[in-house]
Amino acid sequence: MPVLITSQTATPLNLSLKQLRQRAERLLSLCGHAQSELSLLLVDDPGMARLNEQYRHKLGPTNVLAFAIQEEGGEHLPAELLGDVIISLDTAAREAATDRVTLHQRVTILMIHGLLHLLGLDHERSSAEALAMAAREKQLLDQLLSEERRGKMLSLAINIDHVATLRQARGITEPDPVLAAGICELAGARGIVVHLREDRRHIQDRDVRLLRQTIKTKLNLEMGAAEEIIAIALEIKPDMITLVPEKRRELTTEGGLNVAGQKKRLQEVIARMDKADIPVSLFIDPDSRQVNTAYEIGATFVEIHTGRYCDATTEQARDQEFTLIATAAEEAYELGLRVNAGHGLNYLNTQRVAALGTIEELSIGHAVMARAIFVGLDQAVREMLALLPAG
Ligand code: PXP
Repeated sequence: MPVLITSQTATPLNLSLKQLRQRAERLLSLCGHAQSELSLLLVDDPGMARLNEQYRHKLGPTNVLAFAIQEEGGEHLPAELLGDVIISLDTAAREAATDRVTLHQRVTILMIHGLLHLLGLDHERSSAEALAMAAREKQLLDQLLSEERRGKMLSLAINIDHVATLRQARGITEPDPVLAAGICELAGARGIVVHLREDRRHIQDRDVRLLRQTIKTKLNLEMGAAEEIIAIALEIKPDMITLVPEKRRELTTEGGLNVAGQKKRLQEVIARMDKADIPVSLFIDPDSRQVNTAYEIGATFVEIHTGRYCDATTEQARDQEFTLIATAAEEAYELGLRVNAGHGLNYLNTQRVAALGTIEELSIGHAVMARAIFVGLDQAVREMLALLPAG
């Protein structure tokens, strides 16, 4: 294994080792050392202070140390063994807060710094070398992140609940959401979302069963964590489920899940879905605590609630809400969560969210259905797709 990661920290921090390993391996490759081996040791401040004193005779912790194998008198060792990069997660977390970047991003930067030391660069030798090292660090970080994000293609999933709302208004069989799903797919939607509510106000059990058989892209079943609906999901096996809070009197989903407040219950639902191979997305407000708890309890996706951004009535409020979405999406992405977003998105406010490189799918319903009444469903979906970055 080219990258060995060991964690010796007393501080529990939400860090995806899988994400770090992927980045470290890609970095080795970008530096022309794809075949080399690197050891990454994550420690806390007391651990780092001990190493700093032992090897550099300096008091207190530092952020990163790098020990090349050759320095340790290992000439006989295979050249592919580069050495150790040691990072203090406590210091990295403080620096991340100061620099307003995610912990993953700060650790990635420190990892790049340590790796460049192992490859022979040293900022302490001269100011010219310090400048060259800083420039190379920035170049590697930019390349790593832009490659990761370019690899993600944003797709559009259409929520067809309101086709069923219209049908239920008459209590007859038209319009049929199953037919609507086919039209959305033919127009280019990459997924269909339906919310099977406990009160069955729009989508019915029959719809979900038929959609499971007819959908060619991806069926995302939105649902509350109620036992009755969980049983249906486990039986029908959608491609994924999105857990949302559900209140009987609400007109539509009003806010994100309080993941932190019902950690145990949600963890249990995720584990049951996991066993059935059904990935779970948690619909959350753009809030760091919710993102981190979603990661902790094993969600595969989060769907960031865009409602407050969409409902904002002033430019300033809209900008503030957008920043919250961008920050939460970044944090979730950096943790290795897959990131969707939705609620309230329309033909005027979608482009800005769609431009974030961290989101992989938008879930849009009402605006598309409202436009479909006037221009037809096929055209309404195509017009929304035209707003997304070309894939
Ligand atoms: N995402 C979730 C979790 C939702 O509950 C809804 C509404 O059903 C949507 C996205 C789509 O919202 P809208 O209909 O406003 O586009």
